[in-house]
Formats: sequence, structure tokens, C-alpha cells
Amino acid sequence: MKLLEGKTAIITGASRGIGKAVALEFARQGANIAFTDLRYDEIAQETEKEIAALGVKAKMYASNAADFAATNATVDEIVKEFGRVDILVNNAGITKDTLLMRMSEEQWDAVINVNLKSVFNFTKAVSAVMLRQKSGSIISMSSVVGVSGNAGQANYAASKAGIIGFTKSVAKELGSRNIRANAVAPGFIITDMTAQLPEDVRKEWAAKIPLKRGGTPEDIAKVCVFLASDLSAYVTGQTIHVCGGMNM
Ligand code: NAI
Repeated sequence: MKLLEGKTAIITGASRGIGKAVALEFARQGANIAFTDLRYDEIAQETEKEIAALGVKAKMYASNAADFAATNATVDEIVKEFGRVDILVNNAGITKDTLLMRMSEEQWDAVINVNLKSVFNFTKAVSAVMLRQKSGSIISMSSVVGVSGNAGQANYAASKAGIIGFTKSVAKELGSRNIRANAVAPGFIITDMTAQLPEDVRKEWAAKIPLKRGGTPEDIAKVCVFLASDLSAYVTGQTIHVCGGMNM
């Protein structure tokens, strides 16, 4: 028996990286997948094909997760097409790293809007659907940096810490309606996002990891399957660190 058979999942920013791995792992577990990203480009089309090849329904929606009105329209379209939403993974995220003294208002606003406001946008729209269904699992991608802080990432750390507070509040508000909300805090995961970091920063991070390797997107996806499925039926309001022991 597959763990997510017949369920529908929305995953934001899932054309590549961690979101894509989550989409593929959910599809392997039988879930139908609606995913978003900024553009329906070749990368998005390829991901859509890879998911559909696993024998589930797959559809990509070009939608800016930081845009409240666009998010509502997208969730409406998804509900029309898929009929229900059982799982939401708030995954879309960006970095605009620099030291506080050099950080512009634009760099602050962009990261807060894409990483944190998007979580409000999608969770609000999807929880209305989940309330009608009286069930749901909401997973939001935080970061170890949201717990520990990181020089050069004040905007990113604030957005990821904000997700943790938001998740706990939603878990308290919606728990009585059988809707769970949890956050995942990945450590150093090898994707396009971390490829942007300077070599010395990447080496420094890797040296601090007890398991002595960077994580893979699949390492994160497997924990998301646990949180999306009934295996975690009694888990809500938590932040699960998936970081090879980097944060304890
Ligand atoms: P990535 O950069 O490889 O992929 C992010 C995806 O989000 C891209 O496809 C991008 O186009 C999309 N996206 C960006 N802005 C968007 C918007 N406004 N609306 C819709 N989609 C948008 O990043 P990665 O590494 O896969 O990260 C995924 C999530 O995991 C992010 O929230 C990130 O902050 C978080 N994370 C990643 C870690 C890492 O080491 N890679 C560590 C901790 C957290």
C-alpha cells in the first residue's frame, strides 16, 4: 500500500531542487501533484513529465507564490482540476545574501515576500479547502538558519524563523479540525540554491556536519512523505531538522 494513494498535493516552487524531489517522492507514494513555479519553462515541463511518468496526475501552474491574488486564483484552478487538496508543501524560496550593513530594502522585502508571505498566501487559501474536507497536512520549508541565525543572511533567517512561528500558530488554530502543520528545517542541501554559495562557505558548512556530507533533496523529500502521510498522524506544530546533525 502506497502511503499517499489517492491524495492530492500542492507543492510550491517545485520545478527543480527540493520541491521537485518532494513532488517525485509523493508521486511514487501515489499522490496526484499540482506544483507551481514562476514560469512554465523547459525545466518545469520536464518535471511535469517525470511526475506523470510515475502514473499519477501532474500539472504545473505558473504562479508567483509571493502574490496574494495570484495564489488565490491558482488554488481555485487547482481545486477545480483536482477536486481536493490533502497536502500543501510551502517550498518556494530564494536567498539574497549580504551583511546587514549592505542589505538594501529591496533585498529584505524580496526575501520576506517570497519566503514568508508566500507561506501565508498558500496556507490561507488551502486551509479553506482543508477545513471543508476536515483533514489536511501543511508542510513548510524552514531552514536550520531560521533557528541558529547566520551572518550574511538576516533577511533569509528572519523569513525562515517566521515560518516556524507561523506553523505553530496554524497548528494551534487548525488542530481541532484535523489539519496538521509542521515545518522542515533542512541543513546544507546540494541544490542550485547552495551552488550559489562561495566554495569556502560550502566547505566550512560541510566540516560542521556530523554525518560528514551535504544532504540530498531526497533526504528532505522522505521526511516530507512522513509528515504528509498518516505515519505522522499525531505530529503537529513541530520543526523537524533534517541536517545530518548540523543543528542539535
Ligand atoms: P532552488 O533555488 O533549487 O529552487 C527553488 C524553486 O523555487 C525554484 O524552482 C524557483 O524558481 C522557485 N521560486 C522562487 N521564487 C518563487 C516564487 N516567487 N513563486 C514560485 N516559485 C518560486 O532551491 P532549493 O534549494 O530547492 O530550496 C527549496 C526550499 O528549501 C527553499 O524554501 C529554501 O529556502 C529551503 N532550504 C534549502 C536549503 C538548501 O541547502 N538548499 C537549506 C534550507 C532550506
